[in-house]
Amino acid sequence: MRFLDTLLQKQLVGLDIGISGIKAVEISREKTPRILAYNRVPLPWDTISVEGEVKQRDILVQALKKLFSVGCFSSKKVAVSAFGRSIMTKRISVPVMTEDELDHQLYWEAEQYIPFNVNEVNLDFAILGTNSQTLAQEPKMDVLLVAAKKEFIKFLQALMKDAGLVPALIDNQAFALGNAFSFNYSGWTKTQGCNTSVLIDFGAGSTKVSVVEAGNTTFSRDVQACGSKCTELISQKLGMSMEEAEQAKILAPFGTAA
Ligand SMILES: Nc1ncnc2c1ncn2[C@@H]1O[C@H](COP(=O)(O)OP(=O)(O)O)[C@@H](O)[C@H]1O
Ligand SMILES: [Mg+2]
Repeated sequence: MRFLDTLLQKQLVGLDIGISGIKAVEISREKTPRILAYNRVPLPWDTISVEGEVKQRDILVQALKKLFSVGCFSSKKVAVSAFGRSIMTKRISVPVMTEDELDHQLYWEAEQYIPFNVNEVNLDFAILGTNSQTLAQEPKMDVLLVAAKKEFIKFLQALMKDAGLVPALIDNQAFALGNAFSFNYSGWTKTQGCNTSVLIDFGAGSTKVSVVEAGNTTFSRDVQACGSKCTELISQKLGMSMEEAEQAKILAPFGTAA
């Protein structure tokens, strides 16, 4: 924990690697944070596949270098989100036990729930509370399980290094969004008497739906309906390239049927 504190004392730049483009933002560490710098570099279509596989590594490295070349960021230390299908979260129900007990049993429990080989992933969990809805005889508790493929984390670290960046933090996109939402809107949600919020991040490669309960992300799921699917449909129906279809989609007046 002390290591993390030391790490976070340094200014971090938030880096978002999306299918449509990469974005970086630096925020001041004041009580009321301000945006100090922002930049976005678009990515050519299919640099990263809709599944999150990096198809054109060199193009991505060049784009990352370009993103930071404008000189507006004070640091090359980044907090970056893992993307694609190499990271997954699952809400599971297990017999009530302590955090230490679950820590010991985690790999055994996880085997049933995740589609990856458990030896090839980093696992973490958060106990969400007791499950009062279960019909099971023994008391159960809800747990949020997170699995990230080790191979992908290594890939991401190497990618950052080649782009001249230092990955100080690797997060999960849904959790990062949930934290940003809670930071910005917890006061507002309280005044509305609303304990649970659903966040929808409609991106180019997938739509991420997550649930934030009392400030914590308790559920997240990737849905395949996404911006690039709309672009693909326009491209097929109107016989345009993906780039042309993207322009047509964004520039179409609101309410125009393609
Ligand atoms: N004005 C707009 N109308 C419709 N779609 C838009 C508009 N602006 C951006 N988009 C779509 O939003 C998606 C980009 O969102 P973003 O969150 O940056 O995606 P990702 O993080 O997956 O790259 C693209 O599919 C883009 O076409
Ligand atoms: Mg996005």
